[in-house]
Amino acid sequence: MPKNTPPVLATQHDALRLLTLNRADKLNAFTPEMLAALDAEIEDALADDGTRVIAITGSGPKAFAAGNDIERLVSLDGVAAYRDMMAGQRALLSLHECAKPTIAMVNGYALGGGFELALACDFVVASTNASFAFPEITLNTMPGWGGTQLAVAKMGLACAKRFVLSGRRFCAQECEAFGFIHEIVAPDGLFRAVQTLATTLASYDPFAVEMAKRALNRASELPLSAGLDFEAAQYAVNFSSEGARAGLRQFMERRLARRTSQASTAQVSS
Ligand code: COA
Repeated sequence: MPKNTPPVLATQHDALRLLTLNRADKLNAFTPEMLAALDAEIEDALADDGTRVIAITGSGPKAFAAGNDIERLVSLDGVAAYRDMMAGQRALLSLHECAKPTIAMVNGYALGGGFELALACDFVVASTNASFAFPEITLNTMPGWGGTQLAVAKMGLACAKRFVLSGRRFCAQECEAFGFIHEIVAPDGLFRAVQTLATTLASYDPFAVEMAKRALNRASELPLSAGLDFEAAQYAVNFSSEGARAGLRQFMERRLARRTSQASTAQVSS
């Protein structure tokens, strides 16, 4: 890649911020610079009030991301590999926890760290040529950016084991049964599908979306009673916002207007 090429490109489409991993010649395999740039772009999108939804994709027609850069990994010692994994986990955890809804727009291979990145997003919209795998076991290693934990949280232990312990690549259609894919579309309709989903998500009150997402994210971590307490607390916080009161009030106003119009129609026809 030429020296001045940014590792991640950011473009704005109404309320949607699209981040594109920009290393197509290496199937968007992650470098530390790319991971740091992605983290910074996500922070930037979170700080921008005009951005309500963040989507991530890969450049080129072949890959979302083919995982961590193996050429670099091979030269690391144990301590450096540990630090590399911690950096990946930190970045993916902050994506998983971020206040705005996120969409992985998967346009080809989502392997290793690429699959982990997709699982850290709230929604996966995949093209028909997308495929997903944790190939690490075939390299005598294992996922290290949160893959074992995120895969279990997103698809359950049995399905997660099929990925992590087999190393097998599954096409998007096969993955539908695992439950982590929101939608599968033809490659030329991928961005439109992401825009449609983003428009829906952006139409809701951002605070309600944020509170609901936080409660959902705790579900796989807390025992049921603690999760319910957390949900009730989030509900109360959200309920105290002007947005929640306005949403409920608008529903009642619409209902009242409908009843009034039904009553006057009945009067005219009687
Ligand atoms: N790290 C570094 N480079 C990678 C890479 C990775 N994870 N995945 C792909 N690349 C590079 C290739 O080395 C190649 O570069 P080169 O042209 O300079 O040799 C380029 O991307 C294109 O990949 P190539 O293997 O030629 O494409 P392909 O279509 O034949 O195969 C894959 C695609 C994804 C099946 C194959 O590249 C692959 O298995 N990659 C490794 C995936 C992986 O194990 N990820 C987990 C890492 S922990």
